[in-house]
Amino acid sequence: MQNVENKVIIITGASSGIGEETAKVLAKNGAKVVLSARREDRLKELADEIGENAVYMKSDVVNADEMKALVALAKEKFGKVDAVFANAGIMPAGNMSEMKTDDWNRMVDINIKGVLNTMAALLPEFCAQKSGHIIITSSRAGTMSVPGNAVYCGTKHFVRAMLDSFHTESIQEGTNIRTTTIYPGAIKTELLNQVAESKAKEMVSQFYENVGLSPEVIANAVLYAISQPDNVDVSDLVVRPTME
Ligand SMILES: NC(=O)c1ccc[n+]([C@@H]2O[C@H](COP(=O)([O-])OP(=O)(O)OC[C@H]3O[C@@H](n4cnc5c(N)ncnc54)[C@H](OP(=O)(O)O)[C@@H]3O)[C@@H](O)[C@H]2O)c1
Repeated sequence: MQNVENKVIIITGASSGIGEETAKVLAKNGAKVVLSARREDRLKELADEIGENAVYMKSDVVNADEMKALVALAKEKFGKVDAVFANAGIMPAGNMSEMKTDDWNRMVDINIKGVLNTMAALLPEFCAQKSGHIIITSSRAGTMSVPGNAVYCGTKHFVRAMLDSFHTESIQEGTNIRTTTIYPGAIKTELLNQVAESKAKEMVSQFYENVGLSPEVIANAVLYAISQPDNVDVSDLVVRPTME
């Protein structure tokens, strides 16, 4: 596909769900993919399936050095980096009054600092080459209030505000970096696995079961954004089930 073939694309959260499916779709369209997550066995399986256009590294987005090592691996194996899909994230739920402060901190560490670590590893490359594309998975929760998921909602608002602000900085600095924020609705992945059992989880799970979409629809949205000509910036994409 136009403007995707031979592009080198780093994907965080590639061991399952949206990241895994996006790696498959991008590779099928001729991209070279660099896979990151903590579950190495899942990454290896995916890289084996894709073949020579994939490489992987067990890496945690919370660890800034591991993100730098990921970029180094991409350059060593494929010679450059053209785009990053900063997609790793978690969504444990609960009302604020439940005071699940460990969960709050994990969400801030992974959904916010993890994205920043990924960008910090990439920006020196993208700024120097005056090109690049940063795609981040926010959520529909990043466009509204979500009682029962307030901290998650906040982390997803953060990525939207940060990336949009960065986009203007890139224009001012003449670095020509494209930015895309993706806002998925209910997508059938492993995301709900970490939510503690409760009546609320049962209802949400039922909703996902009834109307949730395949992660392929988000993979196709990422493909669409990347495949545009270099002077076209697809800034925001909300993709949700018709019934949501
Ligand atoms: N599914 C939905 O309905 C939905 C809706 C809106 C937004 N999203 C967002 O979509 C993104 C992908 O989620 P998903 O739905 O595909 O769920 P998923 O299947 O649970 O995938 C989450 C991915 O993030 C990775 N990850 C989690 N913590 C990590 C860490 N510290 N370092 C590196 N990787 C880490 C996981 O890999 P390891 O555990 O192997 O590290 C996994 O590959 C998330 O940002 C999520 O918030 C999902």
